[in-house]
Amino acid sequence: MSKELDAAISLALQSTTPHSTSINNALSSLPPVPPSANTPEFSCLTPSKPFPKTALSPSGTAERLKYLNTNTLGVFTPPSPSTFQNAIEAFTCEGSSQIDTTFFRNNGTCTVPLYPFTPSSTPSSTTPPKPLDPSGRALDPSPTTITCTLNTWLDTYRTSPKQYYLKDFHLTSSIPSSSNFYTPPSFAIHDILNPFLKLYNNSDYKFLYWGPKLSNTEIHSDVCSTFSWSFNVIGRKLWKFYDDRGDKLEFIQEKGEVVFVPCDLKHEVENLEETISINHNWITGASTSSVWSTIKDELLEVTSEINRWNLELDIEEEEEMLRSACGLNVGMFFLMCVLGCGYEVLFLRNIIRTLLTEDIELIKERCPQKYIKIAQTIIASPPTNPRSDSDWARYLQNSLLERSDVPDDFGLRAVASHLGKSNALDVLDSATELECDGKFKDAMREYNAAYRLWPALDSVLAGGLPRGVREEAIKSSYDGPLLTDVDVAAARSSQVVVRRGLLSGEDIELLLRLAGEITESDGGKDFNNPENKTHVNKYAIMVNDPPSYRLRTELPMVLGKVVRFAEQSITRDSKWCEEDGPLKDFEGGCSSLTVRVAEVWTYAEGGGLVDNWHYDTDSIVTIVCLLSDRGDFSGGSFQTYENGDRNIEHGMEKGDGVCFVSHKYHNIAKVEGGQRRSLVVELWEGEGGKKGR
Ligand SMILES: [Fe+2]
Ligand SMILES: [Fe+2]
Repeated sequence: MSKELDAAISLALQSTTPHSTSINNALSSLPPVPPSANTPEFSCLTPSKPFPKTALSPSGTAERLKYLNTNTLGVFTPPSPSTFQNAIEAFTCEGSSQIDTTFFRNNGTCTVPLYPFTPSSTPSSTTPPKPLDPSGRALDPSPTTITCTLNTWLDTYRTSPKQYYLKDFHLTSSIPSSSNFYTPPSFAIHDILNPFLKLYNNSDYKFLYWGPKLSNTEIHSDVCSTFSWSFNVIGRKLWKFYDDRGDKLEFIQEKGEVVFVPCDLKHEVENLEETISINHNWITGASTSSVWSTIKDELLEVTSEINRWNLELDIEEEEEMLRSACGLNVGMFFLMCVLGCGYEVLFLRNIIRTLLTEDIELIKERCPQKYIKIAQTIIASPPTNPRSDSDWARYLQNSLLERSDVPDDFGLRAVASHLGKSNALDVLDSATELECDGKFKDAMREYNAAYRLWPALDSVLAGGLPRGVREEAIKSSYDGPLLTDVDVAAARSSQVVVRRGLLSGEDIELLLRLAGEITESDGGKDFNNPENKTHVNKYAIMVNDPPSYRLRTELPMVLGKVVRFAEQSITRDSKWCEEDGPLKDFEGGCSSLTVRVAEVWTYAEGGGLVDNWHYDTDSIVTIVCLLSDRGDFSGGSFQTYENGDRNIEHGMEKGDGVCFVSHKYHNIAKVEGGQRRSLVVELWEGEGGKKGR
């Protein structure tokens, strides 16, 4: 790969924050990728006429959410002044609808591609669509392309007996002085395709089309499942779209209007009068999954073709064939995503996850190891300067998914069946049942029986997967999901990380209001959390339970701050992952963590968690944030019980957060007066979003 590409990648990475020393093996424990939101949507294709045209929003956010993320067709009028103003001035005579050829004459020696066409006699809405192959290409052989100079085009295009359509002309790369003629519509500025192609082979998908009246493009869908947009500098186009059921929608794109063409939507286009248009194909977060599945489909076609002809090709030759078939290949796609992560890290982490999990064999075969390493770092990094709720929401979605590979029992049953020890677990279950029934003597007998059957179970009551079981599983090459082995002794002596002002006054206000709303809508605190019935002078409201995950969906910035604090505590601000640390075996890294529970606690006078030996079983880290003014209560301080002989008080003010390894002993001193409220969030490797605990 080129030096420029390497340099660009390291530059791109400077804007991400790859700091994770604990994430050496992100591959083995990545959570599953959520279903992609960009399956083609044809619901827009109702015969409503005229097709609704809306004004472009200045930021493009509205279009990204409404059209790109749902892969829905759209037509827009650009804001005034248009971002295409310079192009309009350069290509048209002032104040008229005539083409001004000066710019083209000045660059008359430039070569342009021409496609012969047969004019459509009557623009009709009843012509049946031409047949397509399964990948959406027209079955008719493409007409032969020729090239000529711009001068020749200008001299002949109106008079030549054979008619040509000037298409796929790379305007800005062929004539650099045109680079300030326009900027893409704001919804299309997040483009990972064109900046990549520029570096990779100095190419792009940024085109000018110049079509005489009735010139046309036959039915097709755009290259490699890319999105495209098209702007008419001058002239009008008739667009016809066909969905998979054969339904058709058509409209006329007027001068000055922008069309967004979703990926994989078949269409044909006709110039109703002489038309100059600018269009780009591009790839962004919302279309990467579609592009990737198309590349994989094309690869299958290519390899079956190779087999049919009994060709002996190496990987590079195969990749070259793939590139000529669909414009991209596996290596290019992977590099494009890695490079794109420099500025679209939040969008692209998911696709890289897919590449590094489901498609890892393909990637390993075709991509340089160093780029795979970079990609692993990228998916393990937190967001770059998240600012808004939606940034945090994406971050939470990308880094802390609702599900985890590690099941609720931490894989204990799966390991047992792998080792042929399921009977020991059955005995253990019956022991637990007996204990619940208060038959302690019988329970003890059954526990002992279970341990005799499987001695490694001896630490099972300490929570999670016992260390012995884990060791046996690893020794016997068990490759299923396993809970991280927390070194409990090291956890007990590990340091607490303190963050002053983790949550702002506004965050706290919103959080308390949400807790109140949840309590009310659940029908009271005991319905929200039945454990409250047993609590004395204190209660906890579960604020992130399924199915609504209200903390995550309604206050993503608040949960995001907490989670990021935890990530930074684990990877940067503590020694937990170091040689003697409690999380030294935390190979899955932060991306394997899910939010187990988020609770807003209220302690009244006399309430507390007065238990020196309390710790949070099974979780990895716990975060506590004080929500009350220090002056609103007395007593009630957050403490850790150190070395089994003394409590250390961690002075916390309103908004301060503490993060600690969950197996560390911690407690809340009795509240002597007033009311103390706090947020408690536990992160673990089990299934995310379980109700209660
Ligand atoms: Fe197209
Ligand atoms: Fe706790």
